[in-house]
Amino acid sequence: MSSSTETAVHKEESSPSATPAGLLEVRNLGVWFDTPRGLVRAVDGVDLRVDAGQTLGLVGESGSGKSVLSRAIMKILAPSARVQPGSEILLNGVDLATVSPKRNKHLWGVDLSMVFQDPMTSLTPVLTIGQQLTETLRFHLGLDRRAAKAEAIRLLTLVGIPESARRFDEHPHHLSGGMRQRVTIALAIACSPKLLIADEPTTALDVTVQQQILDLLHDLQETANMGMILITHDLGVVAGRTDSVAVMYAGKVVEKGPTRQLFSHMRHPYTRALMDAIPRLMHPSHTHLPSIPGRPPTIIDPPPGCSFAPRCPSAQARCHTESPNLEIVPDSPEHAAACFYPLGTKDVI
Ligand SMILES: Nc1ncnc2c1ncn2[C@@H]1O[C@H](COP(=O)(O)OP(=O)(O)OP(=O)(O)O)[C@@H](O)[C@H]1O
Ligand code: SF4
Ligand SMILES: [Mg+2]
Repeated sequence: MSSSTETAVHKEESSPSATPAGLLEVRNLGVWFDTPRGLVRAVDGVDLRVDAGQTLGLVGESGSGKSVLSRAIMKILAPSARVQPGSEILLNGVDLATVSPKRNKHLWGVDLSMVFQDPMTSLTPVLTIGQQLTETLRFHLGLDRRAAKAEAIRLLTLVGIPESARRFDEHPHHLSGGMRQRVTIALAIACSPKLLIADEPTTALDVTVQQQILDLLHDLQETANMGMILITHDLGVVAGRTDSVAVMYAGKVVEKGPTRQLFSHMRHPYTRALMDAIPRLMHPSHTHLPSIPGRPPTIIDPPPGCSFAPRCPSAQARCHTESPNLEIVPDSPEHAAACFYPLGTKDVI
């Protein structure tokens, strides 16, 4: 992570001229699914920004829309997904919605890349891991067979795979879950993407390997100025490894801002509920997202009002009828929260 906490996920700040375009700008993104049970608003009016060389941490309970958001950016949504009119995803100023499928294939790996929650999603069972890596390297970087093999083995070593030359010829099912995840990370970073989305990249790995992988991703950011969206349930990782944070609840971003500012001056009761449920947030250990008391949110045909209202200790009558917008926190132009009655607490950690 950059030591600076100045660059953030803000879009709402008042002076556009002072803010050059970000590497990634997501504007008013909506992704809905028609299901037999009703309309699922998996992502509902999300605005985000990621700058080159910076890491945005994306947190929220299971089902809050983190993976659907990531898949929308990668343009790999399920066929039943409906991206809502007015949604924009700009990568270096180019609206990905307008990119042809052919050009899109060239963007993947080089401009944007993703480490999936489930390693098998990005690995082909019938090909050896060497074949999968060299195919990517030859297609995107134009390496010849010999150079691609050398580079693939280097990448496998880089992500901590022992005896990488031997592993090169193995199929994914010969590897443990942790090893498979390292291969997917090698694949994702093979072409030094400008933007990497890492969806719980280290969940299957032990603490030591997790640190190694996060260090590796950090080094890549430094050398290649790579932007990253890091989705994790580990709040220690969020605290120690991100420049900015976006908190998602029921498909919406309910709070976002520079990491240090958000953790020390959180405004949204949901963010506080996440933090309160663990004893010492700033300890950079495996501090997983806790479960929050109360009913999980309804995202199928949700009732009016703030989606957190049924669980919120600060809820008042208005919260059950109106939905709050994400608004800039006074005197903190990069910090925004969606709450009618934001917390004024300081130093809550
Ligand atoms: N193909 C689909 N059809 C219908 N609903 C879907 C589909 N994919 C995702 N959803 C719904 O969208 C919502 C958001 O799912 P998503 O996978 O993005 O959650 P998440 O925040 O990544 O959760 P987790 O932390 O468990 O990975 C969930 O309610 C999920 O059931
Ligand atoms: S708007 Fe109301 S219910 Fe929603 S988080 Fe704020 S206080 Fe709680
Ligand atoms: Mg997910």
